[in-house]
Amino acid sequence: MSDLLILGIYPHAVEMAEIVARINRVEHTWNLVGFVSAYGDKVDEKLIGLPVLGWEDALTRYPTAALVPEYDWPRKPDIPRQRLTSLIDPSAFVSKTARIGLGCVIYPNCYVGAYALIGDFLFCLSGGVINHNDVIEDRVTLTSGAIIAGDVHVEADCYLGQSCAVREMVRIGRGSLIGMGCVVVRDVAPNSVMVGNPARRLRAREPKYPGMRVVRAGRRVARKGVRTLYRAALSLRAKALGVT
Ligand SMILES: CC(C)(COP(=O)(O)OP(=O)(O)OC[C@H]1O[C@@H](n2cnc3c(N)ncnc32)[C@H](O)[C@@H]1OP(=O)(O)O)[C@@H](O)C(=O)NCCC(=O)NCCS
Repeated sequence: MSDLLILGIYPHAVEMAEIVARINRVEHTWNLVGFVSAYGDKVDEKLIGLPVLGWEDALTRYPTAALVPEYDWPRKPDIPRQRLTSLIDPSAFVSKTARIGLGCVIYPNCYVGAYALIGDFLFCLSGGVINHNDVIEDRVTLTSGAIIAGDVHVEADCYLGQSCAVREMVRIGRGSLIGMGCVVVRDVAPNSVMVGNPARRLRAREPKYPGMRVVRAGRRVARKGVRTLYRAALSLRAKALGVT
């Protein structure tokens, strides 16, 4: 069993610990050694019986422990990538042909269809559906019951609200927030907050990680071409890191 630290101390971190226990019931995989606090609150306290550590302390005390961040962990860009792992609840369906990056968390009853390509730090709450051939870039959050049809491309740093639905072939621009219950039927411009059915732009959204780079293969190429190139780039990155 490998050591594991959950980066976060909020309710989702507690749920993640329960997902770890569910994974261990199927196959003993993780020795969960504790939680890590980003800003030092609750350090030296216990959370569901496990210690809360500070960031530097955790990295030095457990130099080989795998790391997995809670949604909104503020140091996502700083986490040493070679130490990241992903948690997938045993009840989730994940196609063998799908590819999932590191630092992802997939809650119970989620669905990841054939040839879906998912970057790092996906946080997918219960009942999230990612369909066949979807491309989900880094740091995307799907909240409960968000449903994405096939061949959709969600750019980095997007947040999909509860029970939203996205039509096939749509592209959601980087940093956008799709409101709860929204029905997205057309492409969404970057940094948009969308509401309603059909979705309309309510206002702009501040970029969350404006300086962060994502794997990008090209612009202003036909949409299908971009997707193919993006897949190739992610695939090369996964190969280089030995992740499949
Ligand atoms: C889209 C969202 C971010 C807008 O928040 P906001 O900027 O604070 O907007 P407001 O609440 O001030 O609403 C502005 C207008 O948009 C409407 N609106 C807000 N959210 C809406 C939604 N999801 N669907 C339809 N209309 C919505 C409001 O009724 C209001 O309309 P009005 O001006 O005609 O009165 C927010 O409502 C939302 O849906 N967040 C996602 C919540 C979620 O899924 N959380 C998951 C937690 S696990």
